Amino acid sequence: METGRASKTALGVAIRRAAHQLADKPPILDDPIALRLVGEGYPRLMERALHPVGRDFRGFMAARSRYAEDQLAEAVARGVTQYVVLGAGLDTFAYRNPFSALQVFEVDFPATQVWKRTMLEQAAIALPSNLVFVALDFEHQTLADGLAQAGLDFDKPAFFGWLGVVPYLTLEAFRATLSVVARMPAGSAVCFDYAVDPEMLSPIGRVAFDRLAERVAAAGEPFQLFFTPKTLDAELRRAGFGSIEQVGSAELNDLYFSNRADGLQLSPLGLGILATAWV
Ligand SMILES: C[S@@+](CC[C@H](N)C(=O)[O-])C[C@H]1O[C@@H](n2cnc3c(N)ncnc32)[C@H](O)[C@@H]1O
Repeated sequence: METGRASKTALGVAIRRAAHQLADKPPILDDPIALRLVGEGYPRLMERALHPVGRDFRGFMAARSRYAEDQLAEAVARGVTQYVVLGAGLDTFAYRNPFSALQVFEVDFPATQVWKRTMLEQAAIALPSNLVFVALDFEHQTLADGLAQAGLDFDKPAFFGWLGVVPYLTLEAFRATLSVVARMPAGSAVCFDYAVDPEMLSPIGRVAFDRLAERVAAAGEPFQLFFTPKTLDAELRRAGFGSIEQVGSAELNDLYFSNRADGLQLSPLGLGILATAWV
């Protein structure tokens, strides 16, 4: 991605979460801040996100945040008091954080953070006192240094959310970030989604993937890193994680989309899989 420019894909996914609040009743992710944050400034993008054709993608964007926040709640119940949102974009968790003792660190490119802070100000969304912004580029700066300067306590466990970021990274940056989490104390974890190797997709899945890949490349943020469940499992074990969970569309449908009156379900295209790895 071009240095010095705010992320366009961050806006795209934030608009999907906002559209989910309006179009899918009841929402599986309760995120009223998403609507306030994107406001009414992007009518064409919102129209597209609300369209029935975009229902599956909208559902996945909501489900991945809900899953990560459910995993976070489990970590908090086990005593975690630090949450690092890697590639936070327009994520809104920090502004509706139900855990008063949970310190949140939002990590992203400086330009994306400046843009987000302007949007927060315009929407009159206050910055909570337990939020710290950490401006850095995973490709060129050391995450551990940035987090240390921002006050992360490396002697206490932390939960790391890393949604919608991994496909845009190099393998080196992916591994470097994983190794920071893997060196944290027991009870720490990382939750992220990854793009499935296009070779593994069905013909119809491949068409859907190619369309999405074209869109993000046109936004200047091309996909470049792919895994299969097997290669991802090997990466996580190599980094030192022992307890690993991977969930795809079928598991997410069981968790969040059963018995809905509107029939909303994730399709089996399997473009993205979620993983949580515990130290
Ligand atoms: C698709 S957005 C996802 C945003 C957010 N996690 C969400 O789910 O709404 C990808 C985010 O990763 C950030 N990002 C991508 N590559 C990065 C890098 N090398 N260093 C820091 N941030 C990066 C982008 O600025 C953007 O905010």
